[in-house]
Amino acid sequence: MTPYPTTLLAISISLVGAVTAFGSTSVAADAPDPAKVSGPNACAECHKQEVESWKGSHHYKTFRDMPRNEEAKVIADRMGVRRIKVESLCLGCHFTVQAKDNRPEPIAGISCESCHSASQDWVKVHSGYSGKTAATESKAEEAARWKLAESKGMIRPASLYRLAKNCYSCHVVPNEDLVNTGGHKAGSPFELVSWSQGEVRHNTWNSKGKENVAASPARKRMLYLIGLGVELETALRAVGKATVRKPYAFLMAQRVDRARKQMAAAAKAAPDVPEIEKIVELAHSAGLKLNNNRSLTAAADGVQALLEKISTSYDGSTLTGLDALVPAAAAYKGTARAAAAVN
Ligand code: HEC
Ligand code: HEC
Ligand code: HEC
Ligand code: HEC
Repeated sequence: MTPYPTTLLAISISLVGAVTAFGSTSVAADAPDPAKVSGPNACAECHKQEVESWKGSHHYKTFRDMPRNEEAKVIADRMGVRRIKVESLCLGCHFTVQAKDNRPEPIAGISCESCHSASQDWVKVHSGYSGKTAATESKAEEAARWKLAESKGMIRPASLYRLAKNCYSCHVVPNEDLVNTGGHKAGSPFELVSWSQGEVRHNTWNSKGKENVAASPARKRMLYLIGLGVELETALRAVGKATVRKPYAFLMAQRVDRARKQMAAAAKAAPDVPEIEKIVELAHSAGLKLNNNRSLTAAADGVQALLEKISTSYDGSTLTGLDALVPAAAAYKGTARAAAAVN
């Protein structure tokens, strides 16, 4: 018998790839409520440009491609999933699911509402200019409109923390069984600037479709910092769910370790944001070991509160020290689609 480890990181990760356990419970991600999903066609009525950008992305193509993929069949098999588009385990992360005749039906890949939330309660509010027009709506009415849309679930670009949280809830793959039993990748080497500014970018509304504008330097600093924090928070929660000494536990512990180190570098680079140093301390307050959910969750909750504070207290304009850490354009995932191909 090998001695019980004090930390998961102390063990070699030679277990990676080993698939031994069978018999699993199904777990789905925090997906939008199918009963409130309108589907991307409903958005296309007003957001043609954004829909065109989306159609060039892996998020769009996965709808057709994933179920035909050999690797997908192997994973599904190991998880006891017979029909990928019918059973729930894969649906939450790979598809947009809408309730039709009270039955959940996948209607698209990862689409508008996977990131901006199920829209039925907010779609009329967000676009309604408070019953007036863009020109006659007052600033106060506009602010009230956005507040109402958000209270009905809408995730706006302005709520950077909520926006980021969605990406990581899928891209970390915080699902022990799927990784250990299914042999699914334990997430992507995800980073918010490089992964949002390439093929995913659809910043076309304000130019009326003429340009797909890159995020400003200040916005990129915020995307970087909040993204890194959400990676750390999500990975802490993911380790909290680890119950067996198998690849999932090691890989999620590695994610925490890497994100903690990057966060420490960010704390040095942005000394005017004292919250970053507190995040690093909190992330070291819980042991990266099995069956330690309570203290890892407490650490993650603390990180969450600080990230929410950072995302509302700073706009990135003063955090120039972070520029050295923000990935350059060469690292972007895919290419942003040129605008103006529509209209
Ligand atoms: C009837 C037209 C219409 C439809 C349908 C529509 N939108 Fe919009 N959307 C708008 C308008 C108009 C604005 C800009 C409002 C403003 O600038 O004050 C907007 C803005 C947005 C924004 C940016 C909000 C912000 O914070 O600036 C997002 C995100 C968005 N829409 C998502 C969606 C999604 C997702 C759907 C489909 C579920 C959708 N919209 C359907 C008209 C529409
Ligand atoms: C917690 C979210 C999550 C769940 C649940 C999930 N996946 Fe994935 N899956 C992802 C992400 C994120 C990627 C992309 C990883 C990357 O960056 O390469 C992915 C990639 C894949 C890939 C390789 C890329 C591709 O699409 O060709 C396959 C195959 C796959 N998943 C199959 C499945 C199957 C089958 C299920 C259900 C048994 C499933 N996934 C459940 C999040 C998930
Ligand atoms: C993978 C997640 C994701 C998907 C899918 C997605 N969005 Fe977005 N959306 C974002 C992010 C992130 C931003 C903000 C980027 C930033 O601020 O730098 C954004 C910004 C926007 C904006 C405001 C910026 C602008 O100029 O348009 C609108 C409108 C919008 N999205 C609509 C849509 C519509 C409509 C769809 C479906 C065709 C969609 N989004 C699909 C993540 C997503
Ligand atoms: C509902 C789950 C989900 C959400 C939310 C999500 N993604 Fe993804 N994403 C996936 C899956 C699954 C894939 C793999 C698709 C494939 O290739 O089959 C993927 C692929 C990608 C890719 C392509 C990667 C490559 O291999 O080239 C990028 C870039 C990306 N996502 C960025 C983002 C960003 C940025 C956000 C948040 C603004 C986001 N994603 C939110 C599930 C998600």
